[in-house]
Amino acid sequence: MDGAGVRINRVLTQSLQRRLDPFLMLDAFGSDKPGDYIAGFPEHPHRGFETISYMIHGRMRHKDSAGHEGLITDGGVQWMTAGRGVVHSEMPEQNEGLMEGFQLWLNLPARDKMSKPWYRDIPAEQLPQVTTQGGAVVRVIAGSSHGVAGAVTRDGSEPVYLDIALPAGASFEQQLPAGHNAFIYVFRGEAVVEGKAVPATRMAILANPAGADGVRIHAASDLRVLLIAGRPLGEPIAQYGPFVMNTQAELQQAVEDFRAGRFEGLAQS
Ligand code: FE2
Repeated sequence: MDGAGVRINRVLTQSLQRRLDPFLMLDAFGSDKPGDYIAGFPEHPHRGFETISYMIHGRMRHKDSAGHEGLITDGGVQWMTAGRGVVHSEMPEQNEGLMEGFQLWLNLPARDKMSKPWYRDIPAEQLPQVTTQGGAVVRVIAGSSHGVAGAVTRDGSEPVYLDIALPAGASFEQQLPAGHNAFIYVFRGEAVVEGKAVPATRMAILANPAGADGVRIHAASDLRVLLIAGRPLGEPIAQYGPFVMNTQAELQQAVEDFRAGRFEGLAQS
């Protein structure tokens, strides 16, 4: 459970942050029971990284102290750079029915941790999409795939974030730079990668051995899978709840700044 009592599947846990640098967390949520999501995520702070929310089904309203507000709905993405600090709320705008989606935390390089907060809503119809010859329908949230640039690009972490729909029996290939960390998360059907089966609600970390330049995903049944990859930052990771910095001293400063109302758009005390 997280937020005020939302049932989540923490796919990428804190123990994997070094292995999957620059990614800090991936939560999956999906339920048609209002009691599992209705409490939402009331006001809470973030500093030092980016949150990427991707809604498959449902409606969630975002409001933050930097003055951004938006509704994420079916197939939409919200990308927020917390930078030097925002307080925000993420609340469901539905009382019944299915709510399903993901939140990914992407670290910021040290030089950008205290940058100005940034925010962008990308509705489903504006999300770049490509259909491959092999029959894969790919929504390109970040990075690029088969010549199509994603909605967001980043210099330091160079994230690739794809949602791939693949019919049973088909395969999909994605080039990835050598040395990037990468993983998949299957949310419908079953994938096969390098002869290994990955069933629904499971992640698989890609080995990225020296010289590897991509991945091939085969669909054992009709498949929906996230493919997430990025360039490791190779910097120290210090986390205290919703603050992710490089040192303990910076975390202490984050807590002090938050308590004193020194996050973006707040009244200082
Ligand atoms: Fe949040």
